[in-house]
Amino acid sequence: MAEDHFSLSKDSFSIKSVKKSPLVLRMIVLVFSMVCGVYICSICLKQVGTQSAAGFLNVKLVDRPCPEPAVEPWEIPYLHYPKPKTFSRYSIVYYTLEVQPFHYCTEFFYMICVFRAECSCNPVRYFAILSMQRSGSGWFETLLNNHTNISSNGEIFSVKIRRSNVSTIFQTLDQIYNLDWLSSASKNECTAAVGLKWMLNQGLMQHHVEIVDYFKMHGVSAIFLFRRNLLRRMISVLANSYDRDNKLLNGTHKSHVHSPHEAEILASYKPSINTTLLIKDLKQVQDTTTRALESFKSTRHIVLYYEDIVKNRTKLVDLLEFLKVPYRDLKSRQVKIHKGSLSSQIDNWDDVQKALNGTEYWSFLQDYRK
Ligand SMILES: *[C@@H]1O[C@H](CO)[C@@H](O)[C@H](O)[C@H]1NC(C)=O
Ligand SMILES: *[C@@H]1O[C@H](CO)[C@@H](O)[C@H](O)[C@H]1NC(C)=O
Ligand SMILES: *[C@@H]1O[C@H](CO)[C@@H](O)[C@H](O)[C@H]1NC(C)=O
Ligand SMILES: *[C@@H]1O[C@H](CO)[C@@H](O)[C@H](O)[C@H]1NC(C)=O
Ligand SMILES: *[C@@H]1O[C@H](CO)[C@@H](O)[C@H](O)[C@H]1NC(C)=O
Ligand SMILES: *[C@@H]1O[C@H](CO)[C@@H](O)[C@H](O)[C@H]1NC(C)=O
Ligand SMILES: *[C@@H]1O[C@H](CO)[C@@H](O)[C@H](O)[C@H]1NC(C)=O
Repeated sequence: MAEDHFSLSKDSFSIKSVKKSPLVLRMIVLVFSMVCGVYICSICLKQVGTQSAAGFLNVKLVDRPCPEPAVEPWEIPYLHYPKPKTFSRYSIVYYTLEVQPFHYCTEFFYMICVFRAECSCNPVRYFAILSMQRSGSGWFETLLNNHTNISSNGEIFSVKIRRSNVSTIFQTLDQIYNLDWLSSASKNECTAAVGLKWMLNQGLMQHHVEIVDYFKMHGVSAIFLFRRNLLRRMISVLANSYDRDNKLLNGTHKSHVHSPHEAEILASYKPSINTTLLIKDLKQVQDTTTRALESFKSTRHIVLYYEDIVKNRTKLVDLLEFLKVPYRDLKSRQVKIHKGSLSSQIDNWDDVQKALNGTEYWSFLQDYRK
């Protein structure tokens, strides 16, 4: 939380003239304690983050224009200066003559101004990571959140009610992009890129026409994250769903782990793949991917593959450049669960080999790299 500045200059009120009258002195003490009360109250409200704080303090919006950012003209629609309704990103300061780019001001005994601490003139870019389950997007998101200027708020639309219709989807997006969504990813620093992780089957494809319009209107950039080897993805899906029922790690289901030991336990389960459905399932995933790319091709987007980033972390340079944030070496504490050759991860390896023999998916079996 940003430090609250508290500057009370000594000559704010004149002591000399007051000394003569004890009544006036008492009044001053009373008034002063009122001001303190209001101050403390405003801090409480700020922490609760209620919108009513704005009404209570009779907060007025005072917009000081920010200096023109040095960007290419095409980028302008992608730059935003959110004014969160929740006060979390704002500091309440007693008005001083410093020229601060403040946003909300109120007059009481002193003028109380609230502004986005230090960063109100840092433009914010909006993004959405569009992916499918078990494609490394959890790991990818922890990498992004390791950047001081990026906040990715997780799989927001895994909660059904938020995706019940287009209006709830837009409401949720508005809240996220206005920096009003408080999650562990919310940064106190200057957020330069804010977004979420969104699976294709979480209302995204169902409402893609409206969502594409929203992305274009609000300047949201799409980051596609897919997996090249769909067979490996399938193993991860099967193993994850097995673990949901069997909870291999001391009775807790985990989709992501932070130690090689845990990864080994989860990887000890070798799924058996139904070869009757194999080709159809792989094709279905491939078609979904193609449809998503086709539907969102008119938005500003980048396509990344999990395997490429695992092999060469420097691939993230392209992403940081896409989001226009300064380069950082990004780290995740997550450990990969399934490593090594595919043959050691599938129970009915021979059947799978036979099923894929001569198909376009044969190459999935060839990749023995990690
Ligand atoms: C990024 O990861 C490193 C190593 O785990 C950690 O020390 C650092 O605090 C992280 N930074 C952020 C902003 O999360
Ligand atoms: C959208 O869904 C929400 C929550 O389920 C509901 O309250 C609202 O009436 C719905 N709006 C429309 C336009 O269907
Ligand atoms: C990133 O965050 C740092 C520290 O909070 C801040 O000084 C810097 O201006 C931010 N960068 C951008 C591009 O917003
Ligand atoms: C879980 O089990 C492992 C051994 O499989 C043990 O080392 C670890 O301490 C246990 N953790 C908890 C939280 O019980
Ligand atoms: C594979 O799936 C098909 C269709 O759902 C089913 O009929 C068949 O029994 C399954 N095979 C195995 C080995 O589970
Ligand atoms: C890793 O990716 C970067 C950026 O795309 C590229 O410049 C570099 O040559 C790659 N390194 C290797 C070893 O492939
Ligand atoms: C693939 O099929 C061909 C004939 O269609 C056969 O000769 C070959 O041994 C098969 N490969 C495997 C790995 O099953």
